[in-house]
Amino acid sequence: MTFSFPPAIKRRFWGQVFESPVMLASGTAGFGHELLDLNCLSGVGAVVSKAVTFKPRAGNPPPRLFETSFGLLNSIGLANPGVHHVLQHILPIAADLPCPLLINVAGESVSEFADVVRILESSSVHLGYEINVSCPNVAEGGAAFGVDPDVVFRVAQGVSNATDRPFSVKLTPNGGDIVQSAEAAVQGGASAITVCNTFLGMHIDWRTGRSVIKRRVAGYTSPALLPLVVAKVWQVSNAISVPVISSGGVSCGEDVLQLLAAGADMVQVGTRLMRRPFAAAELMDEMKKLTGE
Ligand SMILES: Cc1cc2nc3c(=O)[nH]c(=O)nc-3n(C[C@H](O)[C@H](O)[C@H](O)COP(=O)(O)O)c2cc1C
Repeated sequence: MTFSFPPAIKRRFWGQVFESPVMLASGTAGFGHELLDLNCLSGVGAVVSKAVTFKPRAGNPPPRLFETSFGLLNSIGLANPGVHHVLQHILPIAADLPCPLLINVAGESVSEFADVVRILESSSVHLGYEINVSCPNVAEGGAAFGVDPDVVFRVAQGVSNATDRPFSVKLTPNGGDIVQSAEAAVQGGASAITVCNTFLGMHIDWRTGRSVIKRRVAGYTSPALLPLVVAKVWQVSNAISVPVISSGGVSCGEDVLQLLAAGADMVQVGTRLMRRPFAAAELMDEMKKLTGE
């Protein structure tokens, strides 16, 4: 890959031109159509949906969100209505999105990822998939898959056999070697790698000794994680030949430009949306002012 500095805001990704590199991260923007009425999609390059599994999932019992001094702990546990509901009732509405949609897919077994993708194939609404082998908040599958390159390879291969659409494999920063897992995903047919899911975190109430999150350990997001994500994006993008989508730590336009300079092709923003639902438009304005593009 050849880089130019400062990095271009307009991107070519998966054969399409994207006016914005900013993607809304999975789990922080529904399926995108919820934001349409609020006019929050200006400046958004693409939306990544909440995770979809084969069966409906209620997710983890509350409390499952906690704001720390410098970030957010979440333990949602892949709550979603299941792939059949998504196909019949959500994707037809999401067809009105002004930008491409990627569907985030999760599973409890290696075969579930491909099973979910196969069912979604009858919709023409989405551009591609993000395969989530990295959720820290579930007992079955989740991050345990993403740390084993052999399992990552088999999941990617299964998805690759189930679709001709492009797909990114979203990896965990928690344990294992993210570069080895990325290489395995590419070998299995991945068209991009998302670097990375949330970092394991915990907040304990010292009065009781109990975690403030029911499931105890959760996924942590914070602007302070930016240097950790920059390092992982840099390591992975130097090792593989497919695009990298960064996920984590973005709070301003400079952060997006830095991640692009580190080797990301597209950059996700998530937690920031909860305070700033118009974050994508704000990031774009900041980047245009900074680069003059
Ligand atoms: C409330 C919440 C729910 C999330 N749900 C998912 C999910 O369903 N699938 C997934 O791959 N990542 C999920 N994530 C992780 C985000 O997609 C993203 O990788 C992470 O928040 C890092 O980006 P940020 O620092 O911009 O928030 C979730 C994050 C949050 C805060």
